[in-house]
Amino acid sequence: MPSYLITGVSRGIGYEFLRQYSSDPNNTVIGLVRDKPATDKKVAEDPDLKGRSNIHILEADVAKYNDLQNAAAHTANITGGSLDYIIANAAFLTQFDAYDPIGKLGEQPEELTKTLSDLFEVNVIANVHLFNLFLPLILKGNAKKVIAISTGLADPDFTSKYDLTTGSLYSASKAALNMIVAKFSAQYKADGVLFLAISPGLVDVGHYDNATPEQLQGFGGLVAKFLEYAPHFKGPITPEQSVTAVRKVIAEASVEKGNGGAFLSHLGNKQWF
Ligand SMILES: NC(=O)c1ccc[n+]([C@@H]2O[C@H](COP(=O)([O-])OP(=O)(O)OC[C@H]3O[C@@H](n4cnc5c(N)ncnc54)[C@H](OP(=O)(O)O)[C@@H]3O)[C@@H](O)[C@H]2O)c1
Repeated sequence: MPSYLITGVSRGIGYEFLRQYSSDPNNTVIGLVRDKPATDKKVAEDPDLKGRSNIHILEADVAKYNDLQNAAAHTANITGGSLDYIIANAAFLTQFDAYDPIGKLGEQPEELTKTLSDLFEVNVIANVHLFNLFLPLILKGNAKKVIAISTGLADPDFTSKYDLTTGSLYSASKAALNMIVAKFSAQYKADGVLFLAISPGLVDVGHYDNATPEQLQGFGGLVAKFLEYAPHFKGPITPEQSVTAVRKVIAEASVEKGNGGAFLSHLGNKQWF
């Protein structure tokens, strides 16, 4: 019975991970959310997910260490003390740096500091604690795979080659997460644990639904660069397409194949879109 711990399953890509992994009744899927009643209701009203007894929703703000400690203890109770997979999907996402370049953000120094601090708290520090607290369970599991959901925007070569100014602070937090993954891999590869950062591609989860025409124009500039990078780019993919692809990468990657500590796309390589 493979077991999965997925953070941030309330919506977006995390909810799709919950949907896809729980479609196999042999899987035990534990989802962490900040608002358990809301996610329980959403699952109960979802024609696909309702009645799936292999879904366990636990309440945890990943930025709160005690919440993660409690979640690890609950997870051990559910699984009998082991865990096969961690999907560290939850992230702090912000509109603050979504359109303006980093030099322009500097005109709002206090908001810049606050945003960068929030980004590192959730996207970096929380995942360090998550990995450390759940590692005893992973070491007792069979698959021993720890996945961090990153972004292609955290690739410095990609950024420099195409002068990608968008999402500077967010990208920096994910680049730090990639390094954390590499460091955990450096320590635990010898124990057979695969640590891997995976970008899910550009996925439509409704983030730009409320963008102003001016903001969309800025986003259009980014899309033009994506087209230069990948002429086949046809716009964002659906969460279903993304998670299907990411699951394949997770299934195929291994320490033995040399994937420990790597940073791959949903295509299993460095092609981000
Ligand atoms: N969409 C894309 O194109 C794209 C591209 C590259 C990478 N990614 C990555 O994919 C992952 C999922 O993003 P998404 O696009 O699905 O975004 P999303 O729909 O905004 O989902 C973000 C999730 O993270 C959760 N979360 C945020 N802060 C949390 C906290 N402190 N504790 C617990 N949960 C928390 C949210 O829960 P609440 O409902 O409680 O807020 C939500 O479930 C992220 O790591 C993101 O960086 C996405």
